Amino acid sequence: MKLAIIGATGLVGSEILCVLDERNVAFDELLLVASERSIGKKVIFKNKQYAIIGMQEAINQQPDIAIFSAGGDTSLKFAPEFAKAGTYVIDNSSAWRMNPNNKLIVPEINGYELTENDKIIANPNCSTIQMVLALSPLHQAYKVKRVVVSTYQSVTGTGKAAVDQMNNERQGIEGDMVYPYPIDKNVIPHIDVFMDNDYTKEEMKMVNETKKILGDDTVLVTATAVRLPVVGGHAESVNVEFETDFNITEVRELLSKTSGIIVQDNVANNEYPMPLFAHGKDAVFVGRIRRDETQPNTLNMWIVADNLRKGAATNAVQIAEHILAQQLVHA
Ligand code: A2P
Repeated sequence: MKLAIIGATGLVGSEILCVLDERNVAFDELLLVASERSIGKKVIFKNKQYAIIGMQEAINQQPDIAIFSAGGDTSLKFAPEFAKAGTYVIDNSSAWRMNPNNKLIVPEINGYELTENDKIIANPNCSTIQMVLALSPLHQAYKVKRVVVSTYQSVTGTGKAAVDQMNNERQGIEGDMVYPYPIDKNVIPHIDVFMDNDYTKEEMKMVNETKKILGDDTVLVTATAVRLPVVGGHAESVNVEFETDFNITEVRELLSKTSGIIVQDNVANNEYPMPLFAHGKDAVFVGRIRRDETQPNTLNMWIVADNLRKGAATNAVQIAEHILAQQLVHA
């Protein structure tokens, strides 16, 4: 099994290497790919030194699986070339997510949909993954009617340059800005570009990707996506109206039983999810589970996950594991 990581020097790429190591994913050969400026740079993985290679060399080597985390333009341009050579591409960008021919996969929810014909598989948006993992079992039990979500998102979701901007501001160092305003000591209600309807692209990703992953166009989502000077994970305040009523104890049980979710909800002990605790972990943490007392059949919850982990690297590696387990790649 030959595995390529495209964007291996980036924040998500580095996290993918950690996850591969921790989960002991078996491969025979590892290709680490980045932009032209990084070719030849050395990266250590499992005590072995790897030299970064360029895109064309990786395509020529025809890997079995390539995990892309190098931005949408790179995916649009190169994913089809890998796919043509027989590689399964798992793409972290938004380039292929809403294309009807490409599956949008959270393995715990719809991994079973993958077949050997799915050569470019989309990894959903980080904010969507953590929300939809909690919504999925509740949708099956009570049918989600409408979701109102506000996000509190980590700067790591923007990449290395954003973490640098925040750290520079904290140290009073002049540097490049990736956000239109300072991010330290600030909260910016603007993630990705604004669209014609005055929502941001990030917000509309949550609206559209949720329907696609749940396989239900009737699920209504309205979102406000906000960037905070935080690392470690994205947090979300989620208000969900269901078709039918629920029992709070049963909601807790359903969430606790869901693979990939940890319920962290003991307010008597001040226990609730926070990025500080989610950092570096693979799980999605759910807490502050309570009935919305202003409307029937409606629930409030607080969902936190490390956006570089389940929101990106972990989910992508789980898709790769799924491909291997289904023997779509013949070793
Ligand atoms: P490089 O380090 O050479 O710029 P982040 O989102 O954390 O900024 O990381 C982006 C990742 O995508 C980096 O590994 C970056 O490599 C890589 N990358 C950017 N453009 C390309 C490209 N055209 N081809 C391959 N990798 C790219």
